[in-house]
Amino acid sequence: MNETIAKKVYLRTFGCQMNVRDSEVICGLLKKNNFILTENPHEAEIIIFNTCSVRKHAEDRVWSEIGKYKKFIVDSSKLSDKKLRTTNHEVRTKPIIGLVGCMAQAYKEKVFTKAPQVDFVVGPNDIHKIPEIISKIKSMGDGYSLFRQKIYETEGNLRPEEIYHTGIRLDKEHAYVIISEGCSNYCSYCIVPYVRGNLRNRNYKDILREIEETVDKGINKITLLGQNVNAYEYDGVDFVKLIELVNAVEGLEEFSFITSHPKDTSIDLFKTMANLEKIKKYLHLPVQSGSDRILNLMNRGYTRKYYLNLVDNYRKIVKEGILTTDIIVGFPTESEGDFLDTYNLVKEIEFDASFIFKYSPRPFTDAEKLPDDVPKEEKERRHEMILNLQKEISRKKKSKNV
Ligand code: 5AD
Ligand code: SF4
Repeated sequence: MNETIAKKVYLRTFGCQMNVRDSEVICGLLKKNNFILTENPHEAEIIIFNTCSVRKHAEDRVWSEIGKYKKFIVDSSKLSDKKLRTTNHEVRTKPIIGLVGCMAQAYKEKVFTKAPQVDFVVGPNDIHKIPEIISKIKSMGDGYSLFRQKIYETEGNLRPEEIYHTGIRLDKEHAYVIISEGCSNYCSYCIVPYVRGNLRNRNYKDILREIEETVDKGINKITLLGQNVNAYEYDGVDFVKLIELVNAVEGLEEFSFITSHPKDTSIDLFKTMANLEKIKKYLHLPVQSGSDRILNLMNRGYTRKYYLNLVDNYRKIVKEGILTTDIIVGFPTESEGDFLDTYNLVKEIEFDASFIFKYSPRPFTDAEKLPDDVPKEEKERRHEMILNLQKEISRKKKSKNV
């Protein structure tokens, strides 16, 4: 009987492109196990949140969304059939709620104390276990909610290769292909290595097979994904060699890659980019700060001068190449002078787009041990100043191109 209940799944994604692809992988696994995906959370018997921990604000959004399901806990204890009359008078059974992704790894079993309405917690390296976990909860039926036993899986470190080959692609025009998982850079502000683990590279043969499968489905535009794609290496194949191999895939029309780390980005890469006809002339190269002192505190492994020189080479070699960046303002101890170094770097480089973030202390990181001493209002002022500068630059560039 239980097989007929808890079948429809609603999955909500927060965060970056890596999470978008992870959600697609989860959908593929669920479909393979005969679950039905729905776009409507009200008809779903299982609700999964694929979450982001990169800034506190991202986490707050998830807690608030999950908070909406708290009423089921409070009220269902009073109802013998564990059903709840919602505001529009519809009677609902409590959905099974799962929290997966980066927040799952950061909070582990603490999620259940913070949000008792959550039934299972699964970290990024254990996503392949999700269908089995849901089936387990389903098979426990009423006994499950009676004892409120919770399940969490956050100990995995390797994803099975098959999860990338379920054949399910939600976007019919463009596909993300993960080339590496995790990150070993340990930038002092970043939680990613702690929640996604150290860098693991996929076998290039598997990556190429996934691209071929995607092209066979009629999707011929792809983006290669990794936290630091330039650090890719498998059996003597580095990132430059990998993009040459990708370029040679028959039927593939266009591809790009994100994200690049300046310390691992080479002139050789630019030359290869210039030569490969299928690669988009686009580089996302997060600078994070224009101050050498802050770059050092961030453990970025390069200087302002190095970055400027790299950009210079990119623009010389990859003609008309698009360039975008990420910037953090208000890192611990960032002075007005440090900030102006960043501001002036943006002015000098004239990025095509900048993504600007206010520093947010993250658990486990080295920077968390430093005082978060740039006041909130000052972070906001610096954020807005660079935002306005970038708007001005983008406007200028647009008018030149018209
Ligand atoms: N605070 C603010 N921004 C952050 N980022 C990463 N960690 C933090 C943090 N603790 C930003 C970086 C990164 C982007 C994805 O998010 O700029 O490149
Ligand atoms: Fe968020 Fe970073 Fe995790 Fe992506 S990898 S979901 S941006 S914390």
